[in-house]
Amino acid sequence: MNIMLFGAPGAGKGTQAKFLIEKYGIPQISTGDILRAAIKAGTNMGLEAKRFMDEGKLVPDSTIIGIIKDRLAESDCKEGFILDGFPRTIPQAEALELLMKEMGISLDRVISLNVPDELIVGRITGRRVCPKCGASFHMEFNSPKVEGICDYCGDKLVQRKDDTAETVVSRLDAYHTQTAPLFDFYTERNVMSEVDGTKDVSDVKEDIFKILG
Ligand code: AP5
Ligand code: MG
Ligand code: ZN
Repeated sequence: MNIMLFGAPGAGKGTQAKFLIEKYGIPQISTGDILRAAIKAGTNMGLEAKRFMDEGKLVPDSTIIGIIKDRLAESDCKEGFILDGFPRTIPQAEALELLMKEMGISLDRVISLNVPDELIVGRITGRRVCPKCGASFHMEFNSPKVEGICDYCGDKLVQRKDDTAETVVSRLDAYHTQTAPLFDFYTERNVMSEVDGTKDVSDVKEDIFKILG
């Protein structure tokens, strides 16, 4: 099954991806996580991407499409995958369509996690993430079993550098101007399903499972 999670920054894509990995045994492909790993490793690509990410702007399409091309070619994607945070522009969506066509596969479903802007700032500023496995928690809404420690791998949770109230404003702006048009793009292709992302984490999970079966 090839799935894409769609939604604003902080809508819950990463949180729900973890549940889908467990249920369907397919990998999560988060371009944000891949870029953060490149920054940590100090690669040229990471250094270049960092400038955009720190300002809450989108990284250029050519960089992102290159990342996805390499990642989808890996053997763990053969049974399917969960796209998280990609595509984010129409050119990225068109490149993905072409790439998947070449691979003889297609997107089975896009899940849109609908969360209004006014809830986003609180979600993002209260978030803590695992630097090792990428899991997301929230100090108030989705706290880990042990404070400051990742439920999945036991690593120490940290705050993302771009999770500030100021950066959220430009991330939301990038979302509305560059990413939101993808909603119509995938609705036209009859693969779009919407979920109320304001519900509790576990209720959102159940709603997604109902759609995917
Ligand atoms: P990326 O890492 O993708 O960040 P994002 O899109 O801003 O999304 P987030 O990771 O912030 O949100 P999420 O939806 O995963 O939410 P989460 O589950 O963590 O990208 C970072 C940057 O990289 C971009 O700004 C850009 O520069 C660059 N980039 C990445 N991909 C790119 C691309 N394709 N093209 C160009 N540039 C790209 O949840 C958020 C918080 O809410 C957590 O604390 C969580 O615990 C909590 N929460 C989750 N669900 C609920 C719920 N139901 N109720 C209450 N709280 C909840
Ligand atoms: Mg995420
Ligand atoms: Zn972890």
